[in-house]
Amino acid sequence: MQNVTVVYEAMNAMVNFETMKSQQVIVTGGAGYIGSHTVVELVGAGFEPIIVDNFSNSHPRVLDGLERILNRKIQLFDVDCCDESALNGVFESCLKRGNITGVIHFAAFKAVGESTAEPLKYFSNNIGSTAALLATMHRHGVGSFVFSSSCTVYGQPEQIPVDETAPFLPAESPYGYTKQACERLISDAHSAHAELNVTLLRYFNPIGAHPSGDIGELPLGHPNNLIPFLTQATAGLRDPLTVFGNDYPTPDGTCVRDYIHVIDLARAHVAALNWLKDQNHACEALNLGTGNGSSVLQVIEAFESANGISVPHTIGPRRPGDVTAIFADAKKAKDLLGWECEHSLQEALKDSWNWQKKLEQTS
Ligand code: UFG
Repeated sequence: MQNVTVVYEAMNAMVNFETMKSQQVIVTGGAGYIGSHTVVELVGAGFEPIIVDNFSNSHPRVLDGLERILNRKIQLFDVDCCDESALNGVFESCLKRGNITGVIHFAAFKAVGESTAEPLKYFSNNIGSTAALLATMHRHGVGSFVFSSSCTVYGQPEQIPVDETAPFLPAESPYGYTKQACERLISDAHSAHAELNVTLLRYFNPIGAHPSGDIGELPLGHPNNLIPFLTQATAGLRDPLTVFGNDYPTPDGTCVRDYIHVIDLARAHVAALNWLKDQNHACEALNLGTGNGSSVLQVIEAFESANGISVPHTIGPRRPGDVTAIFADAKKAKDLLGWECEHSLQEALKDSWNWQKKLEQTS
């Protein structure tokens, strides 16, 4: 099995081996932020996650956090998802042990700004990995596919809350374009391959961390997203947070987003997999958000009241490419999957701060 390094072996005597054999789920990018939380929820739901991750945008210490939470190791293949022959090796190895229930594809580059500077890197990685994975699934007759998409596919929608029937607008960045292109690629593959059952999960803004503080968002280098920057600025590790613009046509002038606790998001993946098991050639796009919009200033206030600490911040100019306001109509996910968010914004922000504090203690 060339290029495939088994870094971690599942060895816990508590695992029911029969269950494990029949419920394997390949989780690409499983060492990343959303991926790692999904691994926890999959184990809780009786699945056996198999992580495929080359740590190009994650850190191996995530595996220690997973082990502390789950009290066992998770099998990991250190593989680049664009490498079809290595992916083939992963599938062969798993199939020797039992069925592959499905594939959840998180692995992708996701920094909007970087994608503008290095579009080719984004096109080849994000689109190439999705094509390689679909080809490998087809070769092995694996049909259930859960794809990490983004509300970025909508651009600035004409109506908010936005539902899944809203048209794609021209992508603001190469990153956004890769999500649109992958959705297209997957739906074309779905039309051509009878065995494929798909959910295209369009995430809004994931925040928060596991309440244990053992896993969370671990941005490598300078954080681009609001919450990692906010927590690092509050911890004194960065300059004060810059609020990107307060002259938008919103109630307080700052941009509005739908912030969803990463655990709620992770649970939606489990619900999607369970739903896919009962489908016969389905392909559905689903919004994953809370249905509530919060402005940047409201998030700062909520963080301060949840954690009893003030957030150093200043008002700066707009960031190019930001949409003014977007939040989800998540009714379809509720109707189809029986899933809805259970965590509040405050809970998510408490967990984000807990994670940041624990990170400092353990770094
Ligand atoms: N923001 C600041 N200061 C910062 C960082 C962010 O004011 O230092 C603001 C942004 O302007 C925006 C909000 O906080 O209004 C959220 O910004 P993020 O960068 O956290 O998230 P985005 O909404 O820009 O992007 C997220 C995902 C993308 C996805 C996009 C879809 O990170 O992957 O949603 O809209 F494409």
